[in-house]
Amino acid sequence: MNDIRRDAPSFHRNIEPITQKMHEILSKNSLHVLEIGSGSGQHTTRLSREFPHLNFQPTEYDVDNLPSINSWCEGYHNVEPAVQLDVSKKQWFEDEATKFDILLCFNVIHITPWKITEAIFKGAKNVMSNECQLLFYGPFKIDGKQTSDSNGEFEKWLKGKDQGFGIRDISEVDTVAKNHGFKLKRRHPMPANNLICEFARV
Ligand SMILES: C[S@@+](CC[C@H](N)C(=O)[O-])C[C@H]1O[C@@H](n2cnc3c(N)ncnc32)[C@H](O)[C@@H]1O
Repeated sequence: MNDIRRDAPSFHRNIEPITQKMHEILSKNSLHVLEIGSGSGQHTTRLSREFPHLNFQPTEYDVDNLPSINSWCEGYHNVEPAVQLDVSKKQWFEDEATKFDILLCFNVIHITPWKITEAIFKGAKNVMSNECQLLFYGPFKIDGKQTSDSNGEFEKWLKGKDQGFGIRDISEVDTVAKNHGFKLKRRHPMPANNLICEFARV
């Protein structure tokens, strides 16, 4: 690994089941993938290798992560240069002509304020195709309850960092989704008490 490339330890634990699940659930007609909060860029690089027919647009809020993403994805013909994106911006891209078919949002909404969850659905409305899939990977609460003791401990740790962070309840996320023309389609159980929550347009 070179010193530009960042390494997220959780990537190594989670990427195999994520990849496997995406093979099962991604629509065969999809072309364009938008990733929110790409972080180190490791998910982007692995998934772009796994799905060579898809074109990936990685994005990051923190500009300091952009070189890492671009370095991990160097040489991949199906990955665009990473761009800075704060999802709470009114308009995500200057040119919103390209419509994305898949939105990936891994490990973001529990570690950002609730307004970021709202902003993601609000922005997605303008940039996603009609048949899109929005995939949120991470821990979730179901019916207001944690799905494991370890998620409860994790939430305490998140709240210690910022009271506005927290493991989101699926039905509350779904309410926000519906306010913006999306709805929960399926939830896919994943190892380590995580889920992929899949949203589609209503
Ligand atoms: C825990 S990291 C997850 C990174 C990566 N997706 C992963 O799973 O390894 C949370 C990410 O949320 C991003 N984020 C925080 N605020 C954001 C915002 N306003 N708009 C877009 N992304 C944001 C951070 O920059 C960071 O990359």
